[in-house]
Amino acid sequence: MVLGHRGAKGLAPENTIASMKEAIKYNVDLIEIDVQLSKDGKVIVMHDATVDRTTDGTGYVKDLTSSEIKKLDAGVKFNPKFKNEKVPFLEEVIEFLKNYPNVRLNIEIKNGPVFYPKIEEKVAEIINDYNYHNSAIVSSFDHIALKNIKEIDSRIYTGLLFMSRLYNLEKYVEELQLSAIHPMWFYLTEDIVKSMHKNDIAVNTWIIDDMSLYKKFASIGIDSFGTNYPDRFNFS
Ligand code: G3P
Ligand code: MG
Repeated sequence: MVLGHRGAKGLAPENTIASMKEAIKYNVDLIEIDVQLSKDGKVIVMHDATVDRTTDGTGYVKDLTSSEIKKLDAGVKFNPKFKNEKVPFLEEVIEFLKNYPNVRLNIEIKNGPVFYPKIEEKVAEIINDYNYHNSAIVSSFDHIALKNIKEIDSRIYTGLLFMSRLYNLEKYVEELQLSAIHPMWFYLTEDIVKSMHKNDIAVNTWIIDDMSLYKKFASIGIDSFGTNYPDRFNFS
């Protein structure tokens, strides 16, 4: 399966609805977004802890209210043709994806360097409000957040993001009750794929933007891969 990273990061302004539309144009199976919390506790779709890189504003997401964030332009820096594109809330992404029931959502909780109190509760509540358990997976490099999510609502699927070789991965996966691992491809081997599949754990890697790398990982049996360029992998 193909996952559009931050929507279609290479083709449109990351983590915006425009980016998701672009990914869907090329028949992705999944879309990945990153989430942070605003000052007033809204779940904001943004990769960085600050709005500086991707919008025309400045400051930490945690110091801005959701209405201040809504005034920002999240498109113009990528390309003026995306001027006026807004920063979405998690609810808006789910509302948008309702039109595409076959496209699932990978919600990456960004915890660190800023740690957001109760971000897990907020994400779980939204998944529950939209009855979205079967269409979402929550991933994070903050493995404590994944543990917390599972404790809040054991029906939510979770995926372990990592960029290293992990010791005792099988045991770790079992203890955290994970559904999937999300290693950066550098750290993914055929042995890991085999041992995960033995226990019904999905293997979702990233970022694969070229066909030769894709072929290498397809041949070892990964379940999905994230790409910034879903146009290069339109298999449908
Ligand atoms: O899905 C994997 C990927 O999103 C993790 O890295 O920094 O792009 O959020 P990052
Ligand atoms: Mg991410």
